[in-house]
Amino acid sequence: ARIAVLASGGGSNLQALLDHLDALGDARAADVVLVLANRADAGALDRARARGIAADTLREPGDGDALLALLQAQRVDLVVLAGYLKLVPRAVVARFRGRMLNVHPALLPAFGGAGMYGARVHQAVLDAGARISGATVHFVDDQYDRGPIAAQWPVPVYATDFADTLAKRVLRVEHLLLPRVVQAVAAGDVRLAPDGSVVGAFRD
Ligand code: GRF
Repeated sequence: ARIAVLASGGGSNLQALLDHLDALGDARAADVVLVLANRADAGALDRARARGIAADTLREPGDGDALLALLQAQRVDLVVLAGYLKLVPRAVVARFRGRMLNVHPALLPAFGGAGMYGARVHQAVLDAGARISGATVHFVDDQYDRGPIAAQWPVPVYATDFADTLAKRVLRVEHLLLPRVVQAVAAGDVRLAPDGSVVGAFRD
């Protein structure tokens, strides 16, 4: 499969995906062929360029036609939102139903939704007194963080945690979970059924 990654920040999730696919060698079911960011200064773009991967700034994240044109130009099969903070236009979500994944640094459906990103997510977890947080990878539908869940991994919350210490622990798990789910979806081991249920599981 040909993957496009959409990012907004440093791109550590992108890097984890690139490194995991490299490690899989010929067993990998996908290659990242395009990286898009809604900010020209996103570190994710530099990481892509360092690998000779096409990288572009999405000046109008809400322009579905422009985004679709970029994805079709690179014959993209699978879209991965890796630290992407903008809502994907409905037309693009519809075109990539079952072929668009997002990683969220908490156990959805809790602690998700518009405005829930970055340190706010982890502060909300701490404020709620949750003892377990985690990472979620889900298929994207047209509402923030609401699509069918493909996989989750737990992360312990310690009494001594602050948002940044919890964020760091969750990010490490995101870096393990996202690439494995992307590989599984690209290989057809995990898929979104017509009724919206997620079928299959991935071998970690
Ligand atoms: C991180 O907060 C991560 O939890 C979330 O997006 C943010 C940036 O990730 N998924 P990245 O380093 O840009 O991949």
